[in-house]
Amino acid sequence: MNDTTPHPAPAVEVHHVYAAYHGQPVLEDVDVDLPAGQWTAIIGPNGAGKSTLFRILLGVMKALRGRVRVLGEDPASQRRAGVMAYMAQQEAVEWDFPISVKDTVLTGRYGHMHGDAFWRRILPPRWCDPRHWAVVRQCLEAVNMLDHADRPIGALSGGQKKRVLLARALAQEARILLLDEPLAGVDAASEHLIMEVLDGERRSGHTVIMVTHDMESARRYADKVLLLNRRVVGMGIPEHMLVDEMLARTAAAGWMRSHEPMVEA
Ligand SMILES: Nc1ncnc2c1ncn2[C@@H]1O[C@H](COP(=O)(O)OP(=O)(O)OP(=O)(O)O)[C@@H](O)[C@H]1O
Ligand SMILES: [Mg+2]
Repeated sequence: MNDTTPHPAPAVEVHHVYAAYHGQPVLEDVDVDLPAGQWTAIIGPNGAGKSTLFRILLGVMKALRGRVRVLGEDPASQRRAGVMAYMAQQEAVEWDFPISVKDTVLTGRYGHMHGDAFWRRILPPRWCDPRHWAVVRQCLEAVNMLDHADRPIGALSGGQKKRVLLARALAQEARILLLDEPLAGVDAASEHLIMEVLDGERRSGHTVIMVTHDMESARRYADKVLLLNRRVVGMGIPEHMLVDEMLARTAAAGWMRSHEPMVEA
């Protein structure tokens, strides 16, 4: 693909977005569209505001200014409608909680259980319609964790947990996958597996938006790269973005931070 390819409709529209924590600016005038049905890698240094941008896309954090649309609608209502699946950078999970791998992945199906028979909905989720378990199995198989389905999630290694959390995100069968550093802490084999699974999702028409520090995988798999460091430094094909000059500009954008408090408009 090259830059002359007709632009697909945006999955996500971010128009002149500003965000701050306690008055300290984190995102400034972020203005970018992320294409539907493509894989966008978001790259930027620590503290660049990448996870914050995800929070805004999910509608769990409000931008101070600007406008965000997910498939043309309000982000929070799209999240509630199950349009987006999210894999967090640091999962706020109590790993010692006695929950099995398969039950963890089943939580990804909760959004699909509303239409099930009433008697099933009043029972604990694990007595759900067998079709949900079929999806759970399929997703565990995709990340090569089916053999671990009955183990407590707390007993897995860091990389194995990541694969289970990816399976949970896949189980949501959402049109947009938001993945915050899914490759952090995984070994080369798992990294390859995760990227191939996501590539399959992308090929079947899903939108993949992934924060990563891994240039090689972005170069190899992403259709587009968004360079972000508080502001948008660049958005385009990997061949144009992942070059020394653009990466240096991304790193330097951090030095240009004004440390002036930002007030709500
Ligand atoms: N809950 C919070 N309260 C206050 N400041 C925060 C909060 N979350 C993030 N920040 C600050 O906002 C800035 C951007 O954080 P964010 O987590 O979005 O960065 P990031 O690009 O995801 O970084 P990393 O690569 O380290 O994950 C950082 O300076 C961080 O300290
Ligand atoms: Mg982050």
